[in-house]
Amino acid sequence: MRNTILLFAFILLSFSASAGDVFTPGELWLDSDGAIINAHGGGLLYYNNTYYWYGEHKGDRQSPILVGVYSSKDLYTWKNEGAALSMVETDPDHVIARGCNVERPKVIYNEKIKKFVMYFHLELKGQGYNAARVGIATSDKATGPYTFVKSYRPNAGYWPIDMTEEERTSTVKVTDFKDWWTVAWRKATLEGLFNRRDHEGGQMSRDQTVYVDDDGKAYHIFASEENLTLNLAELTDDYLSHTGKYIRIAPGGHNEAPSIFKKDGLYFMVTSGCTGWDPNEGRLFYSNSIWGPWQQQPNPFVGNDEKLSFHSQATYILQVAGKKDAFIYIGDRWIPRNQLDSRYIWLPIQYERGLPVIKWIDKWDLSFFDDSDNQK
Ligand code: GAL
Repeated sequence: MRNTILLFAFILLSFSASAGDVFTPGELWLDSDGAIINAHGGGLLYYNNTYYWYGEHKGDRQSPILVGVYSSKDLYTWKNEGAALSMVETDPDHVIARGCNVERPKVIYNEKIKKFVMYFHLELKGQGYNAARVGIATSDKATGPYTFVKSYRPNAGYWPIDMTEEERTSTVKVTDFKDWWTVAWRKATLEGLFNRRDHEGGQMSRDQTVYVDDDGKAYHIFASEENLTLNLAELTDDYLSHTGKYIRIAPGGHNEAPSIFKKDGLYFMVTSGCTGWDPNEGRLFYSNSIWGPWQQQPNPFVGNDEKLSFHSQATYILQVAGKKDAFIYIGDRWIPRNQLDSRYIWLPIQYERGLPVIKWIDKWDLSFFDDSDNQK
């Protein structure tokens, strides 16, 4: 008996030593059962004094889990809450049947319908990355299970509000260009070449996030037009559909991994370039209005390996509850050959000359935000 108690105390001690109230970006991050946190390309939600972390369930071929969910009161210690979204295994033709690919899930809570609404990037079985759809699922509980609602390419039949009449009616077509990346092709891309191609069937939707503004309006931001252009689109009041109102951001700029936050009335967006699982130089945009114009600024990553965003790719920017203007950059350090081992890079957002910067810190905790020198 005494030995059992000692063993138990030892396990408890070693657990608290490995968890700790500290963020160690890039190190192994274990959940409260001692297992690797498996929630990649993730998104966070704060609801009822609890944080929920949703992410891609990687490296487990047998598992039906598409999106896993973890909960935490303090952001350091995470409890595995199991599957948020699972494959539909009873119907091989279902769009989320085994073989589909779900990436970058994000969950928001809708007050009107009292449901948690999940948005994710969906690719269909056997089609690589060609489907480029958004998927939507809902649940009455934050931890799920989420029920699949629908998937589609957004804004079919709608023009972006920032596209001119001339661009909308241009007859220049993608098939007019034998070669991509020429000067003429770039100009045509800027002028809506791919948006026109997809006007009827809906716009491509790959890397994505959702954002709820202070007034409760929600927006879906996604890599569109063959990942050449970001779209920012308004969602309906129930968050279940696109309204058809949207803009193009950085046309032809090749941005992925959008993540967004708002500080002092300014909207900021951190994105990556397009190099698949390999890291590249991050980008920063800001705007006075969600509807733009979004202005590009230099790379927000500052320090060694800034050109590779500290070997990470953005997935979400979290506002810490109960602390003024405390935002955390959340990125993935992908390990393509062993996706489960892809690491999480959480770093506090700091400011220089009014613009967000992300600097490497080996070890930090939330008290970082209490030091006003860090938050100019
Ligand atoms: C990345 C993207 C990831 C995943 C990957 C596939 O560029 O951000 O979410 O889609 O490509 O190669």
